Amino acid sequence: MRLLDAVLRKGLPLEAALDTAARDLQRPDDRAFAHAIAAAALRRLPYLDALIDAATRKRLPDDAKARFALRIALVQALALGTPHHAAISTVLPLVDGGPRKLVHGVFSAVMRSKAVLPELPSLPEAIVERWREQWGDAVVAAAARAIAVQPPIDLIGDPPAGVDGISLQPGHLRLPRGTAVADLPGYEGGTWWVQDISAALPAQLLGEGEGRTVLDLCAAPGGKTMQLASAGWNVTALDISESRLARLSQNLARTGLDARVVAADVMTWSPPALVDAILLDAPCSATGIFRRHPDVLHRVRPRAIAELAEAQSAMLARVAGWLKPGGSLVYSVCSLERQEGEQVVGAFLEQRDDYRIEEEHRLLPGRFEAEGGADSFFIALLTRLGSPPADSRG
Ligand SMILES: C[S@@+](CC[C@H](N)C(=O)[O-])C[C@H]1O[C@@H](n2cnc3c(N)ncnc32)[C@H](O)[C@@H]1O
Repeated sequence: MRLLDAVLRKGLPLEAALDTAARDLQRPDDRAFAHAIAAAALRRLPYLDALIDAATRKRLPDDAKARFALRIALVQALALGTPHHAAISTVLPLVDGGPRKLVHGVFSAVMRSKAVLPELPSLPEAIVERWREQWGDAVVAAAARAIAVQPPIDLIGDPPAGVDGISLQPGHLRLPRGTAVADLPGYEGGTWWVQDISAALPAQLLGEGEGRTVLDLCAAPGGKTMQLASAGWNVTALDISESRLARLSQNLARTGLDARVVAADVMTWSPPALVDAILLDAPCSATGIFRRHPDVLHRVRPRAIAELAEAQSAMLARVAGWLKPGGSLVYSVCSLERQEGEQVVGAFLEQRDDYRIEEEHRLLPGRFEAEGGADSFFIALLTRLGSPPADSRG
């Protein structure tokens, strides 16, 4: 209940809310279960609410405790296979001294009605409108299908041999969700890591490094840093978050890859010299990774998207000065909003006639759907015009 409240009323990310909201749960499996219930409820929220509304005479307010308790009980009974008596008896204490009878009555009525989850889950109405306008009905339908299921696990780099999975491109292996990655052969010292196949594209656009310098900006937890380092780039990985950088350093240590790690704010830091390439994986609404983080669809509002777009434009404008003429810059966001992708790059190109766009990739829901899907991204490869200094290679 605290987790759902943190996301839906306070607008916090589900993962970030977990530590505080689940502070009373000592056992990791209890915490994991609380997380699973909240995530499952967020994947199905419009439908759960419709069931609740159909079984109540007076509409419960969106933030009513009874509605939260019912969402938790219903999603367990309908989606997680919790026995009905357990699903209801564990939520009743949440409304102690309050609408116990109402919650019990509504739950029983829904169970008697033999409700089942619909084939095609619904997305929040505001999202449907926004994405239909931007991408059309087919993409909205693909997104609705995608949110129902937890994504599989993609390994990128040099995945271990002899492990059963499907490979969708060189340097990729897809495993069923729930696979215990740390138990795979060669976990320690293996030059592979967990990274969605779509998230792997930005660094791939930069190609082989051959010892050239690259700034990996907004780098933590380091998926793209590892790609760049293993492709032979001389990497400086920068991020503002010390805790996320600690994970980046652990990732580098495990894979034996090398990068210079810098804790700093892109908006105040400056590099000691111009570089051969830049990867700016800007902070964004994360609406493109809704399969992993269903909370984004319920808490990211148009105002936040506009603010993020402004920050992204400012970052791109700043870092563009750090690239050698002839060098490449990749801008990427895991967002399904044109405002954070196409529009940021479009406005940038209007201001900088020393930059040209080489490639633009808009990865939408429906990509690799038959194989288990993929995250959604906007990725642009830009070059700075002019010739590189003769000694820039090696
Ligand atoms: C999309 S995530 C990066 C994912 C990472 N590139 C990867 O592939 O693993 C965005 C990152 O931007 C960082 N960030 C946000 N604002 C920043 C700033 N002003 N300066 C530097 N890093 C920032 C966040 O801490 C976060 O780690």
